This record gives sequence, C-alpha cells and structure tokens, in this order.
Amino acid sequence: DRSIKIAPSILAADFANFGAECAAVEAQGADWIHVDVMDGHFVPNITFGPSTCAAIRPHIKGVMDVHLMIAPVDQYIDGFAQAGADIITAHVEAGPHIHRTLQAIRGAGAKAGLALNPGTPVEAALPLLDDVDLVLVMCVNPGFGGQKFIHTQLDKIRAVRAAIGDRPVHIEIDGGCDPVTAPLVAAAGADALVAGSAVFKGGSVSNPTPYGVNIAAI
Ligand code: DX5
Ligand code: ZN
Repeated sequence: DRSIKIAPSILAADFANFGAECAAVEAQGADWIHVDVMDGHFVPNITFGPSTCAAIRPHIKGVMDVHLMIAPVDQYIDGFAQAGADIITAHVEAGPHIHRTLQAIRGAGAKAGLALNPGTPVEAALPLLDDVDLVLVMCVNPGFGGQKFIHTQLDKIRAVRAAIGDRPVHIEIDGGCDPVTAPLVAAAGADALVAGSAVFKGGSVSNPTPYGVNIAAI
C-alpha cells in the first residue's frame, strides 16, 4: 500500500556507511529516515546520539525521524533538534513528565512524537493527543531490529486511530514490519511504518539493490 509512508530504520543499516545507506533508501523511495537512538538504560542496547544525527543530516533529503529510546529525555531534546531532527519521538514510559517533554520538543522546533511500548495501554496516549504530531506504536519490544511482529498490537493501532479522530496526528508503526505485516498495519490505520531488517537485510534475488535495500517489497 504505497499511500503509507516507509521509514527505513538505520539500526539495520551498515554502521560504517550511514550517509550512503540513507541516500540509497531515499533513492529507492523512502519517505522518512528512522533514527533509533538507544542509551543502554531505557533499552538494553546502545546506538548513537546527536552527533551522529548531525553527521547524517546532510545525506537525508527528506524527514529525519528520531526515535528516542532514552531516559531521561528532556536534557537531550535541544541537541537532537539542533542536529536537524524533524520529528523527535519520546517514550511515554521514559519518565513521569511526558507532557512537559512533548512541549519541549515542539518548543525546540521539531514535531512531537509519543511512543508506546507493547505493554503500555492505549489509554496512556489519550490525554496527550492534542500535544503530539505523531503516535508511534511499538510492535516489538524496543532495543533490537529483526524481531517478530507482536500481532496483539493491531488492536492498539485501531484504538489509536479511533481516538485520534480528525486530529492531524500520524500513526507510525515500529518493529517487525515486512511485506506480510505491512498490509495488516495499513488496514489497522497506520500512516507510516518503520522497516529496518525488511529494507536493509531484505535485498532479494528478485530485487538485488545496493546495500540490500528492498523498499519496493514492503
Ligand atoms: C527497535 C527500533 C525499531 C527497529 C525496527 O527498538 O525502535 O525501529 O529498528 O527494526 P525491524 O524493522 O527490523 O523490526
Ligand atoms: Zn524505532
């Protein structure tokens, strides 16, 4: 369903060639570049920070969609905004003052995203729907790529879609998206889907592309 935006996650890309990898997936039609920031505290993995975002920014023509899997969040928001993040998404589970965090993201000039882990009920998002530009529904437990899609999250996607109503809020799905699950999340109401392994590890015989890029298959 190409009306849905594809946001390749560079977590699955070649860490020694981020610039070229971003250019390759954009050349293949990627809409957003999803940047998975992990601190080894909120999630059991460490990736990269604002300086990496600043380094890849000139190689991204479109949207740099920064997913902060960090806690605490607030003191890092300005750094990611200055690095060129267009969307900054924080986890509702990252601390007690998510409303203030969302205000700080918008105050720093970025669009504000709210991420919900698989174990977090949709109700956590309901008080915040007028303070976000995007709700990110995790369909894997955050920290790693290549995990199996958690199908119970489809109900949550539908519930978020219903709760948003006619607000200008995007729903982004993150984790386990591939050619099989993409139609399911699109039907459930997603506007954008993150794909890491399905894009960067998904180069197939039928679609041999540089860097194993495989957007068309999604
Ligand atoms: C997981 C990240 C996801 C992940 C998606 O913590 O937030 O964006 O990179 O990778 P795949 O598409 O391989 O599940
Ligand atoms: Zn992510």
